[in-house]
Amino acid sequence: MDVRPIDQLTEAQAVEELTQLADTIAAHDIRYYQEDAPAISDADYDALKQRNLAIEQAFPHLVRDNSPSLRVGAARSEQFAPVEHGTPMLSLDNAFSDEDAAEFDGRVKRFLKIAGPVAYTAEPKIDGLSASLRYENGVLVRGATRGDGRVGEDVTENLRTLAEIPKRLKGSGWPEVIEVRGEVYLGHEEFAALNAAAEAAGQRTYANPRNAAAGSLRQIDPKITAQRPLRFFAYAWGLLSAPFAETQWEALQKLAAWGFKTTPQSRRVEGLEGLLEAYREMEAVRPHLGFDIDGVVYKVDRLDWQQRLGFVSRAPRWGIARKFPAQQARTVLEAIDIQVGRTGALTPVARLTPVTVGGVVVTNATLHNADEIARLDARVGDTVILQRAGDVIPQIVSVVEAERPADAAPYAFPHECPCELKTPVVRETTASGAETVVRRCSGEFACPFQKLAHLRHFVSRRAFDIEGLGEKQLTAFVEREWIREPADIFRLARDEAKLAELRQTDGYGETSVKNLVAGIEARRSISLDRFIFGLGMRHVGETTSTALARHFETVEAFVAVAERAAQGRPGKTYLALANLDGVGPTARDAILAFAAQPKDLLIPPDAALEERLRLAIPKLNRTARAALAGHFETWDAFATAAQLAVAQRPGDDFLEIASVDGVGEVAARMIGEFFAEEHNRLKVQALLAELQVVPAARPKTDTAVAGKTVVFTGSLERMTRDEAKAQAERLGAKVSGSVSKKTDLVVAGPGAGSKLKAAADLGIRVMTEDEWLELVGG
Ligand code: IVH
Repeated sequence: MDVRPIDQLTEAQAVEELTQLADTIAAHDIRYYQEDAPAISDADYDALKQRNLAIEQAFPHLVRDNSPSLRVGAARSEQFAPVEHGTPMLSLDNAFSDEDAAEFDGRVKRFLKIAGPVAYTAEPKIDGLSASLRYENGVLVRGATRGDGRVGEDVTENLRTLAEIPKRLKGSGWPEVIEVRGEVYLGHEEFAALNAAAEAAGQRTYANPRNAAAGSLRQIDPKITAQRPLRFFAYAWGLLSAPFAETQWEALQKLAAWGFKTTPQSRRVEGLEGLLEAYREMEAVRPHLGFDIDGVVYKVDRLDWQQRLGFVSRAPRWGIARKFPAQQARTVLEAIDIQVGRTGALTPVARLTPVTVGGVVVTNATLHNADEIARLDARVGDTVILQRAGDVIPQIVSVVEAERPADAAPYAFPHECPCELKTPVVRETTASGAETVVRRCSGEFACPFQKLAHLRHFVSRRAFDIEGLGEKQLTAFVEREWIREPADIFRLARDEAKLAELRQTDGYGETSVKNLVAGIEARRSISLDRFIFGLGMRHVGETTSTALARHFETVEAFVAVAERAAQGRPGKTYLALANLDGVGPTARDAILAFAAQPKDLLIPPDAALEERLRLAIPKLNRTARAALAGHFETWDAFATAAQLAVAQRPGDDFLEIASVDGVGEVAARMIGEFFAEEHNRLKVQALLAELQVVPAARPKTDTAVAGKTVVFTGSLERMTRDEAKAQAERLGAKVSGSVSKKTDLVVAGPGAGSKLKAAADLGIRVMTEDEWLELVGG
């Protein structure tokens, strides 16, 4: 990740990083929420979200409708029907110290304008997954996961299998309709037993009880959920047909009376002192609870006060989660290994003397990149402090310098790829030429590590999803040189000689060969989005691939445009100029227009560069002039670069790709780079000879907007941007993120700016949201 200070980011860099972050976060969300198998630690995930938020705060106009910051939790899986919650399921802000707790108490008192101590509940923060249970006339009618907070997944049948969830409420006095909310979790013993059984059966194990609980609840077959000893604590509620309590404390008693388990360590406390004391107590009982908690939840006790305090964005003002600090341990750094990923990025991995942290034996930790090693000054032989914060992959937080062996040398990051080619490692640069922390092997497909990683990506679940071709088989086939490129996989399935040889190989019988062939054959027909994603181009994640598939519809159209775009890629000088700090799109276009048609100007030759710029290109604002003057120093240097930039302008095909909503310039550049390589073009052709790529759903052709390219700009008042986009696409329109010659229609709401102007300049039809709805009959 580029770790530039936010205030030094140019807009183009911000766009680039936000795109990258959106894809990365979405991929982690899927691993975490849908596959229950996170790949990074909570702390790292939080860091990604924080960075995304910080950039968005600095560039508010770049916040996309599908920004990770606007989501709680993750996209729902398609396995379960969507359920809209009666009231949204929100999350809590975090507090990490006594000071944070004091601030919370202070905020509450200031808001309510009261001087005396406030009564709170202090409840253990259960580390599971939240669920919402709808009861009508005391009968459980529906159960759902949180999902994105607004819409969850219908897991009613699975939740019904939990013994601790009443199917019918006990006692009386419950509202006619109530959504009871709480946490589904798994105890330590049950977790250990579940993993032991999975291991014995050769199945995958879960990283921690929370993932195991999530994985168990989200089984398609409720019979499997029923076999898992999931438990449930109730602590809150959503929609109510009538109020049922005056305080949180009273509400907890009622929930218990109706048959729910409520958290046994919950307490009612007074003022800040009470909050701090409850936290210390919870820390002390934590090891003896038998289930994971990751902090204490403080809630204002009086519900009328909760009502007055209300919410800020997605979290209530009346509550906060005081989190426990991460658990730490010491161990020795035995070695630093380098792993090479699909894109050639070199990732250092710490090999550690095994040590137990928070109940888990740890032997590896990621060191992220060379800069991180340098920052820590981590050396082989060092004693290091490790940390796990309820997460999977531990972090090295620091090195104990006092215990460093005398002969420990500073770590020298390799200059060559660890593969047998020993290709030189290059430091990655951004569009504007700045170096990033990433070091890559330049060997691409010739590097055996990258080749294997590429192929692994190709067959992975979210790409071609080839059953029977797991890590082990793939590696073996690559070693035998049966598979050198993706097309070889499909060739293998009809290569009788090789299949016969395989039947004779240890570990493969008639059945496994049959399954392998069936797994491959099943994917000879593949959707365009999966095909594009499977190519493994950098910055082309699933979201981007889907956007490309929708836009281009057929693989032929996509490949043709991508190949031409490769020729029309913007050059270095263009990119450097366009991405210069302080030079926005308007300034860029003004410079290009000027350089394309230089006018004879009466400019005093001894004028300062900024002044000459002002006279020559009146459209440049002061920031742009200062940036250019700072960068170029002389008029000649500037003029030469501008001329070059004109020659290096991106071509129409490149711009078409870049303007697809959800794609953008960075991904377009990567696609261009990929298709500029002959070996990649050959690989694609070889693959296409084996496959049938199913075109993206053909849009309707009998609507007023079919085949038209539409841009939505400004704020929409009657629907969300996502809804508008989905509707337009359903009706056969293409939705683009920027206005160009190819745009047919601009739908502008309040606050529309530069796009509206661009439409006027190009003479494109502009309409209001109401006119649009009338046009599409919405
Ligand atoms: S009250 C407005 N109480 O923590 C949210 N939440 O970040 C009200 N959690 O989504 C939630 N134990 O999954 C509440 N005693 C407790 C909790 C608890 C765990 C979870 C819950 C929620 C998240 C908040």
